[in-house]
Amino acid sequence: MKKGSVVDVTIEKMGYKGVGISRVSDDDGQTVLMVPNAIPGEECSVLVTKKKKNFAEGVRVKKLKASPKEISAPCPYFGVCGGCKWQHMSYADQLTYKHQFIEESLHHIGKITPGELLPILPSPEEYYYRNKIELSFGVVPYRAQESYHIDRQAAQEKGEKLASEEGMYLGFHGQGSFFKIVDIESCHLESPLANSILTVLRAFFKKKKLPAYSQRSHEGFLRHLIIREGKNSGEVMVNIMTNETEDYTAEFWEPLVEELLLLESDTAKFESILWSKHSGVSDVARSTDVTVLHGREYIFEKVGKYMFKISPFSFFQTNTKGAEVLYDLVAEFADLHGGETVVDLYSGTGTIGMYLASKAKKVYSVEIDENAVADARTNATLNGIMNIDFISGKVENEAARLLFESPDVIVLDPPRAGMHPGALAMLPKFKAQKIVYVSCNPTTLARDLQVLSKDYEVKRVRGVDMFPQTYHVETVAELIRRK
Ligand SMILES: C[S@@+](CC[C@H](N)C(=O)[O-])C[C@H]1O[C@@H](n2cnc3c(N)ncnc32)[C@H](O)[C@@H]1O
Repeated sequence: MKKGSVVDVTIEKMGYKGVGISRVSDDDGQTVLMVPNAIPGEECSVLVTKKKKNFAEGVRVKKLKASPKEISAPCPYFGVCGGCKWQHMSYADQLTYKHQFIEESLHHIGKITPGELLPILPSPEEYYYRNKIELSFGVVPYRAQESYHIDRQAAQEKGEKLASEEGMYLGFHGQGSFFKIVDIESCHLESPLANSILTVLRAFFKKKKLPAYSQRSHEGFLRHLIIREGKNSGEVMVNIMTNETEDYTAEFWEPLVEELLLLESDTAKFESILWSKHSGVSDVARSTDVTVLHGREYIFEKVGKYMFKISPFSFFQTNTKGAEVLYDLVAEFADLHGGETVVDLYSGTGTIGMYLASKAKKVYSVEIDENAVADARTNATLNGIMNIDFISGKVENEAARLLFESPDVIVLDPPRAGMHPGALAMLPKFKAQKIVYVSCNPTTLARDLQVLSKDYEVKRVRGVDMFPQTYHVETVAELIRRK
């Protein structure tokens, strides 16, 4: 097997990032071949695109026999869109693979066998569960990898290049692509209302002939579109992100705002329509220059019995109903009785800390994002929670000052990269009886648990699925201090 060769394989299992795994015998012995979009039981021809000593990557050029597990995906963009990768498996199979992935990560990366690995908790909804989608604009359309490789080879054989199809595209990045966009008219992840919003916006942008921003030339106007929708509150935010320019004023958007408001119903109110400008070259959907076109700069969402204010760029769990399941599990593992001091690290808009505050003596939360901290303070006041303090800054810099508070329980919910090594090394110094680690990445969770397992016993671990139709999964681990 070498780069450029085509091999026929059977997919044996699911691997990291939800790719199909096959083992191929060649001159290097057994090589693990990773095939995106292929699932266990499938037989396919694979074009090898990368070959290293022990592993190889490829793209499926032909499906020889479908897996008995394969079902038909409801979304027409499935297979090319980088958003969902698992719509072609039943939800029960998705849960099985997520659970296995947690177990294998703990075992292989963390060398950990928890006291109990409890069955994964499913998301209350399998589709239309997200309270936020973030779309990108681009000038280059994305084509399916399989047809792209075949067409490019055919063009090369004729000494030609693939024809350019530049224009205004709005959707998700194509699988593995930095600037190519899968132009979508609907998405199964947020709601039918979000799809109607998309239709109205797309028609307006086309009518006004607004150019998309190009990630290569850094020219153009339209950059991102973020639609947030409080699933329990019914409050909707539409945030149009553009390049900075003198050419347009807030009045330019008035007809669009009027059209959007026609989509309102008893259960959905446009409380926030925003225009955010961002001139930097980085492709991040963030801005400090926000103009309110209608309503206010934030929306509220209800999780459990609490209301939360969400600013345009603050982190908020994307599956509201799933977040209730997650936070209930965190509360169960924390098992507070009213007298405990709790430290909540990587606290976002303060959701977990507030969920725990009614059963704690005091909660201290630490979060890097100043806007999220400001929202968290508002949220505490809004919900009448007095026994919580918010510290704005990096955990690795700020957590040490909480050493003197002698917390009984530490709750952590870091980003995908896991904990900063300095912060991780500091944790045992708190001598907290219990740590509840919430993670959206089983591999970094396993890495961090291995470090913590010198001082803590990993008692219970449980997956919570917050992201159906994708390979992502949330995991909660309960750690008890060794004597
Ligand atoms: C996975 S989110 C968890 C948020 C919150 N616990 C929740 O459930 O909504 C991770 C949070 O960590 C914050 N963060 C990232 N790096 C950080 C750091 N070095 N120090 C403090 N907070 C950080 C992010 O801004 C984000 O709000």
